[in-house]
Parts: sequence; C-alpha cells; structure tokens
Amino acid sequence: MSPTRRDWLKAATAGTVGFCLAPTVLAQTAPPRQPRPAGPLPEGVERAARPLRILILGGTGFIGPHEVRYALARGHKLTLFNRGRNPLMWPGEVEELTGDRNTGDLDSLKGREWDVCIDNPTTLPFWVRDAGQVLKGKVGQYVFISTLSVSASDATVGLDETMPLAKYTGADPMKETQETLRGKMGELYGPLKALSEKEAEVWFPGITTVIRPTLIVGPGDTSDRFTYWPVRLDRGGDVVAPGDGSDFAQLIDARDLAAWIVRTAETRAFGVFNAAGPGFELTMLAMLYGVRAATTAGATLHWVPASFLEAHKVRAWSDMPVWVPTTAETAGFSRYSNRKAIAAGLTFRPLAETALATLAWFKTLPAERQAKLGAGLTPERERAVLAALASRG
Ligand SMILES: NC(=O)c1ccc[n+]([C@@H]2O[C@H](COP(=O)([O-])OP(=O)(O)OC[C@H]3O[C@@H](n4cnc5c(N)ncnc54)[C@H](OP(=O)(O)O)[C@@H]3O)[C@@H](O)[C@H]2O)c1
Repeated sequence: MSPTRRDWLKAATAGTVGFCLAPTVLAQTAPPRQPRPAGPLPEGVERAARPLRILILGGTGFIGPHEVRYALARGHKLTLFNRGRNPLMWPGEVEELTGDRNTGDLDSLKGREWDVCIDNPTTLPFWVRDAGQVLKGKVGQYVFISTLSVSASDATVGLDETMPLAKYTGADPMKETQETLRGKMGELYGPLKALSEKEAEVWFPGITTVIRPTLIVGPGDTSDRFTYWPVRLDRGGDVVAPGDGSDFAQLIDARDLAAWIVRTAETRAFGVFNAAGPGFELTMLAMLYGVRAATTAGATLHWVPASFLEAHKVRAWSDMPVWVPTTAETAGFSRYSNRKAIAAGLTFRPLAETALATLAWFKTLPAERQAKLGAGLTPERERAVLAALASRG
C-alpha cells in the first residue's frame, strides 16, 4: 500500500531531518533572556475600529511574533503568556506574563479578563483544560490553533471543515504529556490536536474559533520546510525537483495566517476553519517556477520521477520539502477546501513575496545556521542524485 500522510510525518519525525509540526512539544533548553529587535510593524495596516484586549498563549515562537506585529499595527492591547525562554521583543509595548503549562502553573492569568485568547502552541488536551479552568468566563473568545493533521485521511480531494477526524486510541488523552509524546509525535499529533479542539468547545462553548493551518511558511520558520526552496533556487545551478511537477502543494504564509487570526478576533468569527493557501490549486511546477522567478541566479530545475527518488532514498516532504507524491491515499493531502476561511476574510499574498521575504530573513541568520538547512537535500546528495539520473541516460 502507498504511504499515507501520517506515514510521511512518522518517517520524518523518526528521521534525521528536523521536522516538527509542534515544536513546543519537544523539550527546550533555557537560554538567557535577551532583548531582540522585533522587526518593523507591517505597512499599510489600518487601525481597528475598536481596540481589543488580546491574550496570546505563547506568542514568542514562529506565528506568535507575526500576530503581535499585526495586532500592534491594528492598535490592539496585548498580553503574552509563556515561560519566558525566548528573547524579549516588545519590552514596554506588550505585557508579558510567565508560567508553565507543563506544570499547570497559570497563576499569572488568574483574576484577569481579555476580549480574546489566542492559544498558539497547544497539542495536549490538558493544556486546554487548564486554560479553560482559569479563563472560562474571563475571555469573550478562544481561538485555538489546530492543524490539518487532524484529518482522519488524506484520500479525498476538497475536504472541508466537516471531515472525519483522526481517532486517539491510547488510554487517557488527558494523561498525555510532553514526556509521553516522545517518539510518538508523528502518530499522536493529529489525534491529540483533534481532542484539544473538542476540549476547547467544552470550556468555551459557542465562543471557540478553531483554525486548522496547512504547512506554515515564511520569515521565522525554523523548520526550513519551505525555506529550502528559495534558498536552493537562489544558489543557482542544477536543482533536483520532485516528480513531474503535477503534484499539488498547499502552504500559508505565517504573516497572512497571523493577520487573519487577529481579524477573526475582530469579527468574532466562531467555528472551524481550514487555513490553507493559496486561493487556487497550486502545482509543484507552478510553485517552484514561481519561487525561481523571485531569484536571479537562473537555476535549472530537473524533474526527477518519484520512483527514481524513492530508489535513491530521497524522501518526500523532508528531503523534497512541501512535496508529497500523489497516490490514492494522498490525493487530498494538498487539496483541502479553504472556501470557508476565504469567505471569512483569509487572504494570501503572492508566492514571490513569501519567497523573497523568507530568503531575506534567512540571510539575516548566522552563517553556521545558514550552512545547515533543516530540510531538503545537501549539495552532495543532490549532485549524487543528478549524476545517477544522467548515467541512466
Ligand atoms: N509549523 C507548521 O507548519 C504548522 C502547521 C499546522 C499547524 N501548526 C500549529 O501552529 C502552531 C504554531 O505555534 P508557534 O509555535 O508558532 O506559536 P508561538 O506562540 O509563536 O510559539 C510557541 C510559544 O509557546 C510557548 N510555550 C512553549 N511551551 C510552553 C509552556 N510549557 N508553557 C507556556 N508557554 C509555552 C513558547 O514560549 P516559551 O518557550 O518561552 O515558553 C512560545 O511563546 C502550533 O499549534 C502548531 O501545532 C503548525
């Protein structure tokens, strides 16, 4: 049987290539807390008619800072809640409360009220329960950032928000912790996110917004799962491209996602939404030529059949980021319906803008980090694949 998406995810989490949909489920060491420039606020954003008091659980990882920048530009008042392990980006501009959801330490939230709570990093149902115990009746809306990995299957094209959800088969989901998840992330991520969605509705009935993003990309993405392509195409030369270009790709720029998350708070858009871009069906061919068009190095793409890649142990998704070959089991993987989210105001910037911004951000990273991409082929492996392809004739 052909591999399903869950198989790709399992393989990727077990492999050496860094792949993680929920980075905060893994242990983090605590670096000293330094201030770090937060980057400019987005341009051309009008102030909201009514400023909101927004609590962001998390806020200092990948999508959080984009939410903060957009929300500040809209004139909202922000409180972030996290362990304080990341640099201070908005001292004085944004209130930061500390606590640890692993240990149930949410004391700093007690006795406070907000118009909306945006819960970014949660996979574990007990994190939602704990937040519910403290915030029930204290927030007017609870926005839970979920994932399209909650889907029970990727076989069907055009799945919308009513799709069947992956089932959790363990003993007690409330007992799953970061420790128990070790090594089981690929299997349990989707089912636990699905249960966390349900738990959110238990504590915040009628005022829950569940947002299910596809692959989130753009500046600040430390996984390199999309970043590989702009970086590789910007280097020029002969580039391995996966399949024949006809497979589909879905992704969302973190800035588009973040801005829309904030707007769902402004419009009080409740319910479940698939957050996948772009607004049309994107093939790998269109994606890679689109990214190439944002570079000047004139890279040459070599489309390598999926069977050849497999024979040379080049893995979909982790070695060839964004790509999953189309089979009966994966036909819907990158073709989820995004109609409901678009109707609720989700917009997408052009791919070229995402590619350029991602590249510009990547080039600000230390040289040693730039030399070590977390996804994609190393130059040596890529050369070996192309040499094998050439010798095949
Ligand atoms: N990346 C993708 O392609 C993708 C796709 C689909 C869905 N998603 C979902 O999108 C969300 C992405 O979130 P993000 O990581 O970008 O959010 P974020 O809010 O930018 O960063 C994660 C935050 O969680 C905080 N945190 C981690 N452990 C904590 C703890 N024990 N107690 C309190 N705070 C804690 C971190 O700060 P401290 O470390 O200082 O505590 C950090 O502020 C996740 O829910 C993920 O599942 C991602």
